[in-house]
Amino acid sequence: MKLIFLGPPGAGKGTQAVKVAQKYQIAHISTGDMLRAEMREGTQLGKEAKELIERGELVPDDVILGMVKNRIQKEDCKNGFLFDGFPRTIAQAEALESISAIDHVINLEVPVDTLIRRISGRRMCAECGAGYHVSTYTDTNCKCGAALFQREDDKEETVRNRLVVYERSTKPLIDYYTKKGLLHTVNGDADIDVVDAAIGAVISK
Ligand code: AP5
Repeated sequence: MKLIFLGPPGAGKGTQAVKVAQKYQIAHISTGDMLRAEMREGTQLGKEAKELIERGELVPDDVILGMVKNRIQKEDCKNGFLFDGFPRTIAQAEALESISAIDHVINLEVPVDTLIRRISGRRMCAECGAGYHVSTYTDTNCKCGAALFQREDDKEETVRNRLVVYERSTKPLIDYYTKKGLLHTVNGDADIDVVDAAIGAVISK
């Protein structure tokens, strides 16, 4: 099975992707996580991406496509994969067509005030990459023991630009995948397990 999770920053793509990937034993491919790993390792790609990410801008399409093409060749993608945060532009979606077919595109719909509340309260683990929200997890350390931190691009000004970039560059994908008959919109403004069940219902149809 090959899936795309679409939605604005903070829609819950990553949260739901972890669950779905585990349930269906498919690879979870988050281009955001891949870029943050490059940043942590201090690679040239990571240094270039850092500057763009911290301004809330997108990383160039050719860089993302190169990463994705390599990633889907890996053994853990044999059973299928779930793209979280990719494609993010029409150019990426068009290029993806020559790389792989897709079964479903899940579009998580969440109002802007909820997005901002979720992102401003998000904390991440520097070691294992797990994500938490301050409203439901008050410890300053991850369950794995490492310290939690706030993503640089989760600061308010950057978040506002990420939302503008989403509207301009990524939202047009809703029409793009609707015309291809692949899009399923799910209400993402509900409890995590409720959203998970709604996604499960779409996939198992
Ligand atoms: P990326 O990491 O992909 O960020 P994003 O798409 O902006 O998404 P987020 O990680 O902010 O949100 P999410 O939808 O995954 O929500 P989450 O589950 O974490 O990309 C970062 C940057 O990398 C981009 O800005 C860009 O610069 C670059 N980039 C990445 N991919 C690219 C591409 N393809 N092309 C070009 N550039 C690219 O949830 C958020 C919070 O809400 C968490 O605290 C969570 O616990 C909480 N939460 C989630 N669901 C619920 C719920 N149902 N109820 C209550 N709380 C919830």
